[in-house]
Amino acid sequence: MSEVVSFHRSERVGIITVDNQPVNALSQAVRQGLVDALGKALADAEVQAILLVGKGRTFIAGADITEFGKPQKDPGLGDVIARYEASEKPVVAAIHGTALGGGLEVALACHYRVAARDAKCGLPEVKLGLLPGAGGTQRLPRLVGVPKALDMIVSGEPIGATDAKAIGLVDEVVEGDLVAGAVAFAAGVASRRPLPRARDLSANVDETKVDPALFDKARKDAAARARGGKAPLRCVDAVKAAVELPFDEGLKRERELFLEAVESTESKALRHVFFGERTAAKIPDVPADTPTTPVRRVAVLGAGTMGGGIAMVFANAGISVLLVDREQDFVDKGLGIIKKNYAATVSKGRLSQGEMDARVGRITGTTSWDGLAEVDLVIEAVFEEMGLKKEIFGKLDKLCRPDAILATNTSTLDTNEIARSTSRPGQVIGLHFFSPANVMRLLEIVRGEKTSKTVVATSMKLARQLGKVGVLVGVCSGFVGNRMLHTYGREAQLLIQEGALPQQVDAVLTRFGFAMGPCATSDLAGLDVGWRIRKGQPRPPPGARYSGAVGDRLAEMGRFGQKTSAGFYRYEPGNRAPMPDPEVEAIIVAVSKELGIERRKVDDHEIFERCMYSMINEGAKILDEGIALRASDIDTVWINGYGFPAHRGGPMFHADVVGLPKIHARLREFLAQHGKAWEPSALLERLAREGKTFASLDAGRGA
Ligand code: 3HC
Ligand code: NAI
Repeated sequence: MSEVVSFHRSERVGIITVDNQPVNALSQAVRQGLVDALGKALADAEVQAILLVGKGRTFIAGADITEFGKPQKDPGLGDVIARYEASEKPVVAAIHGTALGGGLEVALACHYRVAARDAKCGLPEVKLGLLPGAGGTQRLPRLVGVPKALDMIVSGEPIGATDAKAIGLVDEVVEGDLVAGAVAFAAGVASRRPLPRARDLSANVDETKVDPALFDKARKDAAARARGGKAPLRCVDAVKAAVELPFDEGLKRERELFLEAVESTESKALRHVFFGERTAAKIPDVPADTPTTPVRRVAVLGAGTMGGGIAMVFANAGISVLLVDREQDFVDKGLGIIKKNYAATVSKGRLSQGEMDARVGRITGTTSWDGLAEVDLVIEAVFEEMGLKKEIFGKLDKLCRPDAILATNTSTLDTNEIARSTSRPGQVIGLHFFSPANVMRLLEIVRGEKTSKTVVATSMKLARQLGKVGVLVGVCSGFVGNRMLHTYGREAQLLIQEGALPQQVDAVLTRFGFAMGPCATSDLAGLDVGWRIRKGQPRPPPGARYSGAVGDRLAEMGRFGQKTSAGFYRYEPGNRAPMPDPEVEAIIVAVSKELGIERRKVDDHEIFERCMYSMINEGAKILDEGIALRASDIDTVWINGYGFPAHRGGPMFHADVVGLPKIHARLREFLAQHGKAWEPSALLERLAREGKTFASLDAGRGA
């Protein structure tokens, strides 16, 4: 018997246990083990019913994603599943934790399903650019009807046990001990015949009764949401096959679509994203067993845009927060905005009033620093001024416990310099949240030259506890995300000066899949922000290009973006949709003229290459300098913090897709045309020359 699947008997019930932790993924060994164990159960004359359970924290969380893209080894999952469905003895799946993807597909082929109250069932394949490929698209609609199956398969969102029972996906919700309840259930159905097999149910997929408009609508909705991704559309097509074709032919159609999907760049990208997020949590010199310190009480300094959002993040995670500002008015304003934000969520039905009250109750606003002596962690989110930050860290150093972590949310300032204003630079770290902090998943964790391993490990753990994706980065201006954003935004602006318009630049990038183009994003963030920063910086030397010219002109006119209903676009009252503005075009044309630039027709391809390749080149420099640990960390930053389309895998993954030699050649051409900013990164140049990729670089570093 295989080590990962075992069989034993409890009176008349044969129990098959999958033990392939952490998530009981359906590796080849598990598939073989399932076949062997079923054989034993069928051969054992004492066994009248069979129970399938998962050991550890979950039932089966799906196919083993690491096996995709490799030659498939027998037995295939479809074959395993067919054997379970064909069993002459009733098979009951007992679900706890999560039954996901192939795991739920195994359960769908069992004759009965019972679930623990807190179990979840789902077909999340679409999130990996796939569709359920082991019968899920054919059995689920037969069991729960086409509309619900479409919902679950196209969204990929799991449902809880109670809902699963309500729609007929599970037969019983077990309270208390799952295995005991499931054994009793199995004993109860042992002699019931005929066995209910999902493949034989036809009522829910009767072509004459299913409205074909359902599929058209599902396709339309999926296309609108997918930003160019194809997987949701394939999901719709596969479910449609359940209605149009007999079961076995439907299975074949599903298989064809699955094989297409598994080979697609989209799925490879999304698998890269899945593993990238998990790899980011692993820090080579900070092993998983590095001691951490508990974070139970937190203070946030500054109740402004970021401080308020950060306080909400902690309150949402059940952690008490002191929110400190310099005057009561600012404290009250910050608390007012927090309450307004929560109330908006309550009014949308996504939060109960009771939960809102509990969260608000965890945030205490104050102007007093007295409570700081008690906290485990302080996050400073005051104005972006080095003098002020250093003064504050000096004060914190005197007030806080020696083991308290002192963190800064600075987006540009030197974390090492801030740390040097304390006597404990080992306790200082950057926790760079993104705006709005309570929404954005990314947390850049900025490791200073002296930051201790305990502080790094505690921060990484905290990110997870807060529901954030933590990525460890080094100190440099803008860290990983904003430093690359700078080059991306710079090219967008230079293209506008040369002849493009904001709507053209934005359209190229949204067509690629970005949620918003760079100009619409600037309008959202506020053009005044960059304008004020640029005012304090020296202008580029004569001859060098200045990318802020149009932004400055718009801001000088009071066009700060969405908040003034005018920026690179104009906005109708109460509507966030950017509208191209002839006035802006006139301003841009005038600025080009003042700069002595003869405007030309800029084609979409050039827009794409300059915005994307400048960012990739900067990413390669960041990697070379050791500011990011891996290329996949850079991708994780861009997908979780900047709306980079996940189905494109991130900028560094995309670079590999295009090919580094091609990108390198274009960088050299841009260098000749536009000057020094285009100097290719030495790392990119080397990888291109050696025929390597960022993925191979990561793999070589054991990432
Ligand atoms: N295959 C291989 N490895 C997997 C895996 C899978 N399906 N699911 C999780 N893992 C690995 C993770 O990479 C991680 O490895 P690490 O410790 O080395 O980093 C480890 O298992 C634990 O995973 P998480 O950190 O994500 O654990 P959580 O407890 O936070 O979450 C989970 C558990 C909800 C099950 C989450 O891991 C998850 O969503 N997994 C993917 C589920 C999925 O997409 N299933 C469908 C697969 S495709 C399929 O089944 C095709 C079929 O239709 C033919
Ligand atoms: P903000 O101007 O909205 O808020 C700053 C708050 O700090 C104000 O309420 C102010 O009264 C308070 N403050 C100033 N001096 C103080 C003092 N001595 N003691 C206590 N409170 C004091 O600024 P915002 O946007 O929240 O930025 C805060 C920090 O977060 C900055 O370092 C910024 O660079 C960083 N950041 C900002 C992002 C953004 O999108 N706004 C994103 C990520 C980081």
